[in-house]
Amino acid sequence: MTVWQRLFRWVDERLSIKDDMTEALYHPVPRRESYLDYLGFAAVFVFINQFITGILLATVYAPSLALTSDGLPYAYHSMKVLMSEPWGYFIRSLHYWGASFMVVVVFLHMLRVFYIGAYKKPRELNWMLGVLLLVTVLAFAFTGYLLPWDQEAYWATMVGTAMVGYAPLLGDWLTGILRGSEFLTQATISRFFSIHVLVLPITLVLLMAAHIGLVFRVGVTEADRALPPGWRKKHVKGTVDIPKGMVPFYPYGTFGMMVTVLVTMLALFTVAYFYLPEIQAPADPLNRDHYEPKPPWYFMFLYQFLKFVPGYYWAQVVAIVIIPLAAILFLFFLPVLDKNPSHEPRRRPVALSAMASVVVLLVGLTYMGQKSTVIPPTQEVVAQAKWSDVSKIFQAYCASCHIASTSGGLSLASYDAVMKGGQNGPIIVPGKPEESLLWLVINGEPNPYNVPPMPLGGQPIPATARQTIENWIKDGAPR
Ligand code: HEC
Repeated sequence: MTVWQRLFRWVDERLSIKDDMTEALYHPVPRRESYLDYLGFAAVFVFINQFITGILLATVYAPSLALTSDGLPYAYHSMKVLMSEPWGYFIRSLHYWGASFMVVVVFLHMLRVFYIGAYKKPRELNWMLGVLLLVTVLAFAFTGYLLPWDQEAYWATMVGTAMVGYAPLLGDWLTGILRGSEFLTQATISRFFSIHVLVLPITLVLLMAAHIGLVFRVGVTEADRALPPGWRKKHVKGTVDIPKGMVPFYPYGTFGMMVTVLVTMLALFTVAYFYLPEIQAPADPLNRDHYEPKPPWYFMFLYQFLKFVPGYYWAQVVAIVIIPLAAILFLFFLPVLDKNPSHEPRRRPVALSAMASVVVLLVGLTYMGQKSTVIPPTQEVVAQAKWSDVSKIFQAYCASCHIASTSGGLSLASYDAVMKGGQNGPIIVPGKPEESLLWLVINGEPNPYNVPPMPLGGQPIPATARQTIENWIKDGAPR
């Protein structure tokens, strides 16, 4: 007996793990048709990557906005320190790209599971766990994005937390909870950090354990067809006999698993090595370097979608809160809602066309969002301007910061919000443009509150748009 075998026996005599290991290793699987069936393993790999690189990053990173002697916030400074050292920079790159890989791998894994109908009875619960895992992954991405505390981090989180503000009744309260105050401050970075490194990892590990445990318990999908009746009962009793048409996971499945994991690993390491993520100027609530707020690519579809939504309060509530929430709920309850029992892709034309349309829509919106930033409203001066005319201007040039009661406590999303004004009170004096704070800031005029010119840090908006707004205020700012 080799020393390893003796060691194993020593452990096994105390923990009796042999049966469980045999069962896990040799559990029957169908002969695989596609490497896509192993994407779940790729997700586990990316998770392990995030876990290890995350711990390493946390040994250097300081979630603090106290200022160094150079006047930089410690959070930002610690990123700079990390990136000044090649290994530190590479580890950050692995973690940064790992987040994108996670989103992609989980998305593809879900598509595959959907395609082969693996969410159907008896695997409904595991699909639901999977949807919770997806939400957890997105929460990871959202909270992690703020931590470097550069311009990109700051403004993406400003916009993201403001979107939560659209939840009816609870909105302002939720935004307050996320931010810890009206703006992004030390409170925000502390809570995002603790959610990112404590709450979410624990949640993810528990969900993942349940998710993988259920795969063993219920078996993989094609098993339904190949397993003889009564097999599962016998199997649970401990005898691993492989039914006809099936193969044991080891060694038949391990090859596909290793290929999938290795390809993912190679891709991640290559991208992380050649495309080191940059860091922008430190977060500046006054946006003095003209940074144009933009979400990370995996939230781009939502951002792009919002550009098509009119600036009325309820339209925004539906677009920002109701539709995404309904989509997640629909995804969650999909196994209960889809009554078609077939797993065969050919017998599920409705489900698969729906899936294809959703993919086209998401990819299309993401692509459009990456290509363009604003949909400019009409460049003509509108003589008798109505709210709908100025609303388009706000949507194009201001909504990235004033989407909800964000910057300056000012929302420009609805007529009522504009009339209410921001932290300095009403911004419009109907009939009198020169006395309206709105008019003063878009024309870069001095004003009693010392509000800097708007759009903050950016080019002035076109003269035609400014004229339209002026006409609108002159006419008494009609609805
Ligand atoms: C890059 C982000 C950004 C963009 C884009 C932007 N703003 Fe602002 N806005 C801010 C911030 C931050 C404040 C708070 C500034 C302060 O109080 O010093 C503010 C304040 C204001 C205020 C004053 C509110 C108050 O009560 O004090 C008005 C009015 C305003 N913005 C109008 C606009 C308009 C109109 C546009 C589009 C043409 C626009 N903003 C675009 C970030 C932005």
